[in-house]
Amino acid sequence: MPEKTLTYTQRMKWFHEARFGMFIHWGLYSLTERGEWTMFVERIPKKDYAKLANQFNPRKFDADAWAGLAAEAGMKYVVLTTRHHDGFCLFDSQASDFTSVKTRAKRDFVAEYVAAVRRAGLKVGFYYSLLDWRFPGYFMPDKHPESKEAMVQQYHAQVKELMSNYGKIDVLWYDGHWMPNFVEGVDLPAFWRSAEVNAMARSLQPHILINNRSGIDEDLDTPEQHVTASKAGRGWESCMTMGDSCGWGYIRNNPNMKTEPQLLQHLVTAAAGEGNLLLNVGPKPDGSIRGRERKRLKAMGKWMKVNGEAIYGSERCPLSGGMLGLWTGKGKTGYFHIFRWPGETAVVPLVKTKAVSATLLATGKKVRIKQEYNGRLVLTGLPKDPPDPNAAVIKIEFASKPQPMVEEDRAAWLDGKAK
Ligand code: GLC
Repeated sequence: MPEKTLTYTQRMKWFHEARFGMFIHWGLYSLTERGEWTMFVERIPKKDYAKLANQFNPRKFDADAWAGLAAEAGMKYVVLTTRHHDGFCLFDSQASDFTSVKTRAKRDFVAEYVAAVRRAGLKVGFYYSLLDWRFPGYFMPDKHPESKEAMVQQYHAQVKELMSNYGKIDVLWYDGHWMPNFVEGVDLPAFWRSAEVNAMARSLQPHILINNRSGIDEDLDTPEQHVTASKAGRGWESCMTMGDSCGWGYIRNNPNMKTEPQLLQHLVTAAAGEGNLLLNVGPKPDGSIRGRERKRLKAMGKWMKVNGEAIYGSERCPLSGGMLGLWTGKGKTGYFHIFRWPGETAVVPLVKTKAVSATLLATGKKVRIKQEYNGRLVLTGLPKDPPDPNAAVIKIEFASKPQPMVEEDRAAWLDGKAK
């Protein structure tokens, strides 16, 4: 089918299957070791900040290692910051001299990244920030209208370069369409002329998915640092850091790393709402990914090898996880993700549909099922201790798509007669 005629659902198909992606924040700011907002937060003059480019020569940059780690984690796509708010491009641009190709490193990291991600069989995403702190017209558009216009033109020109020079690109992940909080009353899509850029991007990459951060909704919602589902039918993806929420780029001392069960619960929560988790890493200035990020991703990958069928292509499942966890589903199959292991018996309340069989994915063993009063689906003969310290999944086959019991008489359960 010609790509130009693909429907939203068709374009979204791979994304819906994927569920788990890697976000990479890496650029000049990595050298500051204090996160990607350092230039602005510390008010570092443009000239001084630009000197970082003389030090930017990442010897351990190995795009295959990034892509390999993403694949090992069970991720299906990667999104890299091709250019963040500091304006430094990791790609070759005719619209700017502030790039890794024209400074010390003399490398097009985006080209290396695209090739490696493709080799690993994953989909390719580009993060691109509309705003660029180097332009006075961003902070005071009325006072510096030419600078504002130059920044907008840079956005248009660079998106065109990114969409033209690197082959097929799967996700265009915008950021930074907002104005500083002291600039009020701006019509954002008009300020950036985003409709024009997005139409151009789609004519060059007809299958592409575009997120909602150019001031226009486009294809994907992007809850940040929380996992909140959009309404059914709308694509969404939560992006999240492993460490403190203020920093996406490398922060040397970043003590609050989420634990493996926390990260997996976020992934399951996304899958339960038919959305994706875009989990961030902030590689070191030399390009390598720190051990504690690698360790977590590998653990997630190990879990996905056993339980991935409950995540990839997941659908919403209306059954209750009660106190124990959450459900995902696929047709007549329900997957009960148990975070708080109850011991030898687990109860799912208010199940209307007949359950046919159940298996514990961690062991491959059958689980005994019994359906009794109040729609209680009782699962017995489970191991006393959690079969997986992070989360265990019980796969249940139902006679039809699982449905909850609707309590017509809200007090009937007290007599064991809920229906
Ligand atoms: C925020 C930040 C930015 C980060 C992004 C990721 O918008 O400005 O630093 O890249 O979130 O979603």
